[in-house]
Amino acid sequence: MDSIHIVGGQRLEGQIPISGAKNSALALLPCALLTNEKLTLANLPRLADVDNFSHLLNGLGASTKVDGVKPGEIGRRMTLQAKDLASTVAPYDMVRKMRASILVLGPMLARAGEATVSLPGGCAIGDRPIDLHLRALEAMGAEIELAAGYVKATAPKGRLPGGDYSFPVVSVGATENALMAAVLAKGKTQLFNAAREPEIVDLCNLLVAMGGRIDGIGSSHLIIRGVEGLHGCEYEVMPDRIEAGSYACAVGITGGSIELVGARPHDMLAITNALAAAGLIVEFSGKGIRVTADKPLRPLAISTAPYPGFPTDMQAQFMAMMCLAQGESFLEETIFENRYMHVPELRRMGASIDVRGRSAIVHGVAGLTGAKVMATDLRASMSLVLAGLAAEGETEVLRVYHLDRGYERLEEKLSAVGANIERRGS
Ligand code: UD1
Repeated sequence: MDSIHIVGGQRLEGQIPISGAKNSALALLPCALLTNEKLTLANLPRLADVDNFSHLLNGLGASTKVDGVKPGEIGRRMTLQAKDLASTVAPYDMVRKMRASILVLGPMLARAGEATVSLPGGCAIGDRPIDLHLRALEAMGAEIELAAGYVKATAPKGRLPGGDYSFPVVSVGATENALMAAVLAKGKTQLFNAAREPEIVDLCNLLVAMGGRIDGIGSSHLIIRGVEGLHGCEYEVMPDRIEAGSYACAVGITGGSIELVGARPHDMLAITNALAAAGLIVEFSGKGIRVTADKPLRPLAISTAPYPGFPTDMQAQFMAMMCLAQGESFLEETIFENRYMHVPELRRMGASIDVRGRSAIVHGVAGLTGAKVMATDLRASMSLVLAGLAAEGETEVLRVYHLDRGYERLEEKLSAVGANIERRGS
């Protein structure tokens, strides 16, 4: 199995191109199921999750064609077409591999009047239920049955009537599933307390480009008026704000200056505000965001929250950076209950962190030391890469498949700005 080897201590200077957003891509891809016409998605990141999702769509009857890519190019274009659905069942093997497979539930139900999806199992970052996905679809008129580890949703008379639903907890995935089901419903759907993440806005914009009727885009109150059919279109995936934020933390931890080319400042205010509070200089350039770190890091107090709050997907990376801040930082994780699995590994590299329930206190230390480490999820793995960039000596990050799920060309992007990092096969 591959591992990433890093020799720490290099300042980072230069430019990093930001890829298309993974979480957006995973919500845009299932929209191919909503029409029999062609959907072309540009700037799709080259990631294992995107490949897995397109295999899932192939199994459901969608063809996928990827344009030729030149060596070194970031992203790719994919044309998808689901002339007919070959199946309305998303099997256990796919859903187990990738939780986001649940996002085919809403579009299959809307298109075919029924959908069967394996229940996702527990997940490394906590117990992640799908009850809100199901409640929202029920409110729109779906009948839901659970049997043998599968959930089956059916639209009476083949088409959902539409209806109103107020989310008791903000959920990105449940908002996405509800949106994709509502666009082809007979009537009107209103979603209250909907997620407002930029990736939700990206999904709404694609659905509108396909002929959907959605008001309130960008707010927590979405009004969707069902249409008779959607058409194909070409659409570009938004830049990945979490990837951009992760590389900003890389500069924070090593010192130096990097331009994050393509990053969209208005999607990232909670992240850039936290970077500035830590003492980094953040400048919005015409091409993206320039981040410069030229003085000691200041400690932070951060609590994760749904957008526009500080993203849970950035918590681990900021924690790695705070390990080297001058003083005590306070972190609180309010979204997922088990998202500190990077802590024991960071400690093995010399970090001083106390965890109590959902809170963590990070006592800044003078330096970290390289070690052989492994993490159990994507962002936790990135926090170990960041720690490795600053650590004295060599760090070996195992279980690289986590990183391959969410960071396109990680080693290439970091070595291009001066990091001593390489992937080795074993
Ligand atoms: C998405 C992102 C993930 C990010 C998360 C929160 C994708 C592919 N993944 O995950 O990277 O960390 O948003 O920003 O876009 N919940 C329920 N019942 C449900 C659904 C969710 O209780 O039916 C709870 C979850 O346990 C969690 C909270 O709601 O505590 C938020 O989860 P949610 O926003 O749904 O996360 P995902 O869509 O799975």
